[in-house]
Amino acid sequence: MTDLVRLEVEDGIGTIRLDRPPMNALNAEIQRGLIDACREAAERDDVAAVVAHGGEKVFAAGADIKEMETMSYTDMVDHSSLLQDFTRALARLPKPTVAAVTGYALGGGCEVALACDWRVAADDAKLGQPEILLGIIPGAGGTQRLARLVGPAKAKDLVLSGRFVGADEALAIGLVDRVVPAAEVYDTARSLVERYVGGPAYAIRAAKEAIDRGLETDLETGLEIERMLFAGLFATKDQKTGMRSFVENGPGKATFEGA
Ligand code: CAA
Repeated sequence: MTDLVRLEVEDGIGTIRLDRPPMNALNAEIQRGLIDACREAAERDDVAAVVAHGGEKVFAAGADIKEMETMSYTDMVDHSSLLQDFTRALARLPKPTVAAVTGYALGGGCEVALACDWRVAADDAKLGQPEILLGIIPGAGGTQRLARLVGPAKAKDLVLSGRFVGADEALAIGLVDRVVPAAEVYDTARSLVERYVGGPAYAIRAAKEAIDRGLETDLETGLEIERMLFAGLFATKDQKTGMRSFVENGPGKATFEGA
């Protein structure tokens, strides 16, 4: 366990809080802490959705350059798995996730935001993949998730140049979903996922998994993933509750157990 990452749970929402001032530089300890926090958030029944947050000033300015500076190729062969594992842990979290982005979300910080389902940014936030300026490329999923989110041309613009984008441009290219004043970022992010508290947890999980796994494969394989997940939901109490409630009371009245 580490103090650099905390899972704070309130009213059904887990906040994964990065806490390594001044820039939340993501060293190996914080990367491992993120994996642990994701595992805990996935396992806890009192967590329906997750907000990733770096505090009021900064989301994260990337992987810890000072830690990596002297690493050799063989050091990095091992470390690069961890770099991808911590963003994968967030991407695979079987609950809705949203990044609350204040200040800088750069390099590995931007990659943490990319691993979430949605991103809310402060109007003065700056996002980017500046690794090229260090003589490297993004290593925590950035080349892949950014291209899938904003398309290859815009991803290449950002990754090959290393330039930062402001919140408005990030919104225009689909890198973020909402832009609000900095003081409202965390509450707005929470409000985006509050609707999932008390929802049909297995259906929400299956919906996210079908979309994410489907995007990783061809259409026919994606349709087969959907078919199996769809059929599987008929083994849940929530499907019985949801359909019975519709037949007896009309749409939108079901109270789900998340089971
Ligand atoms: N790693 C380690 N330390 C970092 C850091 C990082 N990614 N980003 C900032 N810091 C440190 C600075 O070295 C400085 O430390 P000292 O006080 O000991 O000198 C402190 O945080 C404050 O930073 P600045 O003085 O630079 O603050 P600023 O306001 O002038 O600039 C900034 C802020 C634009 C974020 C600038 O610090 C910056 O460009 N940081 C690096 C961004 C970057 O290149 N990120 C990619 C990292 S590589 C990566 O992430 C690989 C991957 O894909 C996983």
